[in-house]
Amino acid sequence: MRVTVKRKAHFNAAHRLYRKDWDDAKNEEVFGLCNNPYFHGHNYNFWVEVTGEVDTDTGYVVDMKVLKHLIEKEVCKYLDHKNLNEQVEEFKTLIPTAEHIAYVIYNRLRRHLKNKLDLKITLFETERNCVSYSGE
Ligand code: NI
Repeated sequence: MRVTVKRKAHFNAAHRLYRKDWDDAKNEEVFGLCNNPYFHGHNYNFWVEVTGEVDTDTGYVVDMKVLKHLIEKEVCKYLDHKNLNEQVEEFKTLIPTAEHIAYVIYNRLRRHLKNKLDLKITLFETERNCVSYSGE
């Protein structure tokens, strides 16, 4: 029996979307408000979904206590109240779009989960906008 378990988590962070190799007009055109040169914050919410076979001994797909701790350590503490462009290693080479943030969250959790478990991250940058990434 395969079941999906989900946990919701949260962090606040600042970012700026821009490319150094584009001029101001092009950055403004593509990234709009998120190109503000003084940075700006978002209240990010995300869902972590883990899918796998239910363990016959424990009745769990994954121990939620372990998953909760992993999310707090690997994602929330790592990103909360950070300037993503300036302070987070991964965004020295990636523009901190919601797509790339979901990708970074996925990779930071994936390496701690058993291979047989599937992982999906859904990141909300606003109440209305979200992205999902599941490792493809
Ligand atoms: Ni933004």
